[in-house]
Amino acid sequence: MKREDIDKILAELQQLECKSQKDVEDARVRFLGKKGSITALFEEFRDVDKDQKREFGRPLNELKQAAQARIDELKESVADEGGQDGPKQDLSMPGDPFELGSRHPVSIVRQEIVDIFRKFGYDVAEGPEVEDDHHVFEALNFPPNHPARDMQDTFFVSAGHPNPLLLRTHTSSVQVRAMESMKVPIRVICPGRVFRNEAISARAHCIFHQVEGLYVDENVTFADLKQAILLFAREMFGPETEIRMRPSYFPFTEPSAEVDVSCNICHGKGCNICKGTGWLEILGCGMVDPNVLEASGIDSKKYSGFAFGMGLERIAMLKWRVNDLRHYFENDMRFLEEFGTAIEI
Ligand code: PHE
Repeated sequence: MKREDIDKILAELQQLECKSQKDVEDARVRFLGKKGSITALFEEFRDVDKDQKREFGRPLNELKQAAQARIDELKESVADEGGQDGPKQDLSMPGDPFELGSRHPVSIVRQEIVDIFRKFGYDVAEGPEVEDDHHVFEALNFPPNHPARDMQDTFFVSAGHPNPLLLRTHTSSVQVRAMESMKVPIRVICPGRVFRNEAISARAHCIFHQVEGLYVDENVTFADLKQAILLFAREMFGPETEIRMRPSYFPFTEPSAEVDVSCNICHGKGCNICKGTGWLEILGCGMVDPNVLEASGIDSKKYSGFAFGMGLERIAMLKWRVNDLRHYFENDMRFLEEFGTAIEI
């Protein structure tokens, strides 16, 4: 055994360069493996004369430690994958993005409407989606077999019962519950999901969302209804907005009207959104039929009221000009990400 053997290996270790973890492992085998050069020196050392052992023992141990340290050092500094040069991690790289959810367009519209009516002093009322015939039809002046029931193709949960369970076709049912349980004056809005047995297409869906409203008090007139709707429309669609009312029919209101707002895209000139008319239909409304007040125990001689109802998908369609209803239900991330109002956490 010669001193140079040790020095030679030490020099090799110092010059050792590795590009990948595999290089490091190869080097470890070359120096410290069973057939490695350092291991071989240790084997040689066994046969060294006793008096020489002192001379070589310590440097040999130091060599082994130095080799192990160098290998460890290389292992740390060589990139994990692909054998690139450089440190393991690029600390200047941007972090993994933390994906925030955003509100669904229907929720955004609902919140806007609810906020507007809250300002006007309305409370929010909610009720069950699986309702009975009484609250969806009977108490709203739809007698059995009334043809107006056909306007709202109903999903029945239990048919053949005098008061069958069904999926509510409008949130007017919540207004009935409000009239039954609250004291006049009543001022409520009822946001919620409703169901109608419609074939799904760009213009119709079997699920959609409504906000309906009800105001019952002494001396409530059609003028109050008109003013409430005008104020709402201006808050929702801008201060220049005009409304027009067209006579309509609902079993629970008399008189009834359909409300159009002036098209906020062409400002009345006529465009393809308003189909050249300058007006967009947004809601149905009317004076609560005295029969409806009486059915819920409210004295129709003393009190009167108005009600209105609108579809949220329809308002969202006008707001964002998304003209296929199905987008609102498919939960395609590419669609949902367009409405970037991040949820506060
Ligand atoms: N309930 C009606 C509908 O679903 C809307 C409406 C509510 C109309 C209140 C008039 C008054 O179509």
